[in-house]
Amino acid sequence: MTPAPSALRVAIIGAGPAGIYAGNILNRLVLEAGHTVAIDLFDALPAPYGLIRYGVAPDHPRIKGIVKSLQEMLDAGNMRFIGNVSYGTDLTLADLREHYHAVIFATGAIHDAPLVIDGIDLPGSFGAADFVSWYDGHPDVPLEWPLDATDVAVIGNGNVALDVARILAKHADDLLSTDIPASVYAGLAGSPVTDVHVFGRRGPSQVKFTPIELRELADIPDVDLVVYAEDFTPDSFSEQLVASNNQVKIMTRTLNGWLTRAPLGASRRLHLHFMHAPLEVYGDGRVEGIRFERTEHTGDGNVRATGQIVDYPVQAVYRAVGYRGSALTEVPFDTVRGVIPNDGGRVLDASGEPIAGLYATGWIKRGPVGLIGHTKGDALETVTRLVADLPALVAGDTIESPDSAPDAILALLEQRGVEFTTWAGWRALDAHEQLLGSQDLAHPGRERIKVISRAEQVEISRTEALLTL
Ligand SMILES: Cc1cc2nc3c(=O)[nH]c(=O)nc-3n(C[C@H](O)[C@H](O)[C@H](O)COP(=O)(O)OP(=O)(O)OC[C@H]3O[C@@H](n4cnc5c(N)ncnc54)[C@H](O)[C@@H]3O)c2cc1C
Ligand SMILES: NC(=O)c1ccc[n+]([C@@H]2O[C@H](COP(=O)([O-])OP(=O)(O)OC[C@H]3O[C@@H](n4cnc5c(N)ncnc54)[C@H](OP(=O)(O)O)[C@@H]3O)[C@@H](O)[C@H]2O)c1
Repeated sequence: MTPAPSALRVAIIGAGPAGIYAGNILNRLVLEAGHTVAIDLFDALPAPYGLIRYGVAPDHPRIKGIVKSLQEMLDAGNMRFIGNVSYGTDLTLADLREHYHAVIFATGAIHDAPLVIDGIDLPGSFGAADFVSWYDGHPDVPLEWPLDATDVAVIGNGNVALDVARILAKHADDLLSTDIPASVYAGLAGSPVTDVHVFGRRGPSQVKFTPIELRELADIPDVDLVVYAEDFTPDSFSEQLVASNNQVKIMTRTLNGWLTRAPLGASRRLHLHFMHAPLEVYGDGRVEGIRFERTEHTGDGNVRATGQIVDYPVQAVYRAVGYRGSALTEVPFDTVRGVIPNDGGRVLDASGEPIAGLYATGWIKRGPVGLIGHTKGDALETVTRLVADLPALVAGDTIESPDSAPDAILALLEQRGVEFTTWAGWRALDAHEQLLGSQDLAHPGRERIKVISRAEQVEISRTEALLTL
């Protein structure tokens, strides 16, 4: 039996930008196709926005503009946010199959990619993703971070490496206009750091930074920027890249400009090193230094080892060599790329065939690279596939049962004792955090202070607004 158009039900797992864009686009395209759709947007965290809340650096408030437009999408009421619900634990694939015609996985990436070198697991060696989660007040990481090093190495030449290096080098007081929780301020304020060294294995023209993020380094109060002439070896491939790519041109010019910048005598320094491939983190029972092999250009954008070994005595190492998606229960996973195998967003089984009703979008679809805006195009591609599949999705409908009623999934969660949060609950928590910010009279204009604890977030969300779904 062909169901009434209003019967189409879609679950989206992950309320980061990819999931929210997918819900918004899905609603529009399904309407254009003459149907209506009920969308439930689940997240394992009590609050929405994924890495915008728990990845974007606190001193990057301009990103808040994106949150505003995502918030408008959720305020419009076309999709229902259900937070604090973890797929794989609180809900199974069978549950979703029972209640929805289709599922879109938008679970992103939260963990560090591995860096396989000796000593990487020594105490004092950290993954950038864990540190980011800490300074962004993620509820699932410890409240305290060991900031006891004067000299720190950050491995990687991407924007995450810059975020980590900047937050490590900045004086805590210069972050007090941001949303950092008190425990993060206290941790950073106690840091004895004097020198933060960022290492790239390739050259200044092969960095994966973006120009604004790079230039920002020059404006950190009381932090001197140091670059080294020996890292700027001429290379014809790099010269061609500079000539053909405006972004590379800007960044190479910026870096070259810093070669002649006189030090200001700041109390902290941020060093940018290039042509250093990490070999080993060394130390007796904890990090005492990091060993690199110098590299040289091969002429095609890559580098090769030169055999020249160089050691830097440091007491902490942060690897910022990329993020990695995690496998989801009962969903195919490409362990090499850390993504859900898919064709334009349609999830593929082991033989490469699409699995009916399962889709993926965002970083879990194409890997942990790209800006928030890129997840929009991603979502459009995935949702276009889903809409093309509409006839098949609703044909032979198996969820034409009382269980397909919108509140059945909530009843199931309640029955399992899952303390789910809602959009109204998030708005209450959002208002609460903003109030905390406005109450910091010592720092007028503070937009919010984040609540870290999951239990506290859930309590504020549920007390204020549970049944206003
Ligand atoms: C440190 C860092 C800083 C960044 N800064 C910027 C920036 O300044 N500007 C910019 O444009 N881009 C930035 N990016 C990139 C941007 O964050 C990503 O492009 C974007 O967040 C990817 O969106 P996503 O929705 O795919 O994943 P995510 O944002 O990771 O969202 C995934 C969501 O899925 C949820 N989830 C995961 N597993 C489950 C499960 N089992 N059940 C239920 N829910 C689950 C997670 O809790 C999360 O909320 C940054 C990235 C990082 C790592
Ligand atoms: N402000 C912002 O806009 C912002 C902030 C943070 C993140 N982001 C975005 O989020 C995405 C993820 O950023 P990211 O920094 O995690 O990843 P990324 O941009 O892919 O950078 C990863 C870095 O790690 C290096 N690397 C990888 N493996 C290595 C190894 N074995 N040894 C040494 N170095 C190694 C890479 O070097 P090679 O190039 O040589 O491989 C590269 O420099 C990016 O698209 C980024 O732009 C944006």
